[in-house]
Amino acid sequence: MVSRVIPVDSFDLVIFGGTGDLARRKILPGLFRRFLAGQMPDTSRIIGAARSDLDDDGYRTMIAEAIEEFGGAEKEKSEDVKAFLGRLHYVAIDAKGDGGWKELADLMRDDVVRAFYFSVAPSLFGDLAERLHSYKVAGQDARIVVEKPFGRDLDSAKALNDTLAQHFNEDQIYRIDHYLGKETVQNLMAVRFGNVLFEPLWNSHYVDHIEITVAETVSVGGRGSYYDKSGAMRDMVQNHLMQLLCLIAMEAPNEFTADAVRDEKLKVIRALQPVELHHIVRGQYEAGKDTPSYRQDVEDPRSRTESFIAMKVDIANWRWAGVPFYLRTGKMLKARTSEIAVVFKDLGHSIFPGDHARHRNILKIQLQPNEGMDLQVTIKEPGPGGMRLIDVPLDMTFADAIGEDVEDAPDAYERLIMDVIRGNQTLFMRGDEVEAAWAWTDPIIGGWEQRGDVPKTYEPGSAGPEDAMMLMHRDGRKWLELRAK
Ligand code: BG6
Repeated sequence: MVSRVIPVDSFDLVIFGGTGDLARRKILPGLFRRFLAGQMPDTSRIIGAARSDLDDDGYRTMIAEAIEEFGGAEKEKSEDVKAFLGRLHYVAIDAKGDGGWKELADLMRDDVVRAFYFSVAPSLFGDLAERLHSYKVAGQDARIVVEKPFGRDLDSAKALNDTLAQHFNEDQIYRIDHYLGKETVQNLMAVRFGNVLFEPLWNSHYVDHIEITVAETVSVGGRGSYYDKSGAMRDMVQNHLMQLLCLIAMEAPNEFTADAVRDEKLKVIRALQPVELHHIVRGQYEAGKDTPSYRQDVEDPRSRTESFIAMKVDIANWRWAGVPFYLRTGKMLKARTSEIAVVFKDLGHSIFPGDHARHRNILKIQLQPNEGMDLQVTIKEPGPGGMRLIDVPLDMTFADAIGEDVEDAPDAYERLIMDVIRGNQTLFMRGDEVEAAWAWTDPIIGGWEQRGDVPKTYEPGSAGPEDAMMLMHRDGRKWLELRAK
């Protein structure tokens, strides 16, 4: 099967923070891969903008190294890299002053898409937005891309939204949650709304519970100072896990357009019940044989920030009343795996004598690594001896089914940046969605602060604190085993 690459319109993409970590690790190598795929028109340009005193050549050298280090593409050729670097320019800019803005304004062209990626601290968003406007660098058609963290609570998110709204309309603002750019995350919508099979069963009549797991094996080492102010709740649950939950739980939009999809997601967030504190388990990893503890990583021996969280969440609407959603995410766990499991209800009555096992259909959607789905079904164990039943997976690893296209699929950032150029906001968060997510998150974090909650410790390489197991055991349920697929 051959991937279809649809070229986008010609663009000038300015990356504020163009020398930073995200730009070097993700954005530019990603753009290079889109260039190799033939998706970038010849006249498109990428303009790095940052404080460093570099010129175009200096910037090109920096990005050539980034592409080499962070894997631009397996099959890259030096002439391709050279051709791509020819698209790069650089402007030294002072986000809080006047330096560089006139040069940037002169560099921009009128007849192409203008996009501005704010890969900088949120405290600079206001300064950038204001100067883009006052120096007439960005007009009515310009698009801005902003990264998480989008606020650290409802008030700060509102303040950021207000700041951006002073200079840009909502249809110009692209708030990135890179989970929405993942291939299988979009597949969630294709599976739900493109098949007749699942939708009739996708409700409280047939579903017992749903699990969403995003487990990582990495520590917070190196990002300690950011992470310790966030914790798993702000870093992962408020955004990535929330988005997965929305895609699983939302009603079918009437069409696949940005606002129709985002309206439905918003309804889910608004229907989330406040979570009782005893339905949440927070954890912090201990030191391992050769690895530092969380507190050592963040250099605060008294830190109470969680590197793991498991919680039981209820959605108060007709479709999901009484169906718990169990979420868990954490660092330094046993396996790197992101998986959603839709666990269907028991049959209720078995016609097979002697069969006392609990058979359940489970639809597992593996987001990463090895994207795919499997559906656990009950069959007769082959061979003589009567009707003995066993559960087996109907396995569909997408790479097997679809071939190498899955491997070649653009990564989340590549896809999302191309969507910005196309002007498609479907996979970006709207301001009201982000605010609703914080409105749900704030009381939970406030509750911990109020009672001085201390996270439970867990061993690195485990599945998290024992209490996380208990969270489901108490309900007569069990997490799916955490293992790399
Ligand atoms: C980021 C978080 O948004 O997502 C990180 O800040 C986390 O802490 C990362 O490691 C996970 O992303 P992925 O794509 O590797 O699952």
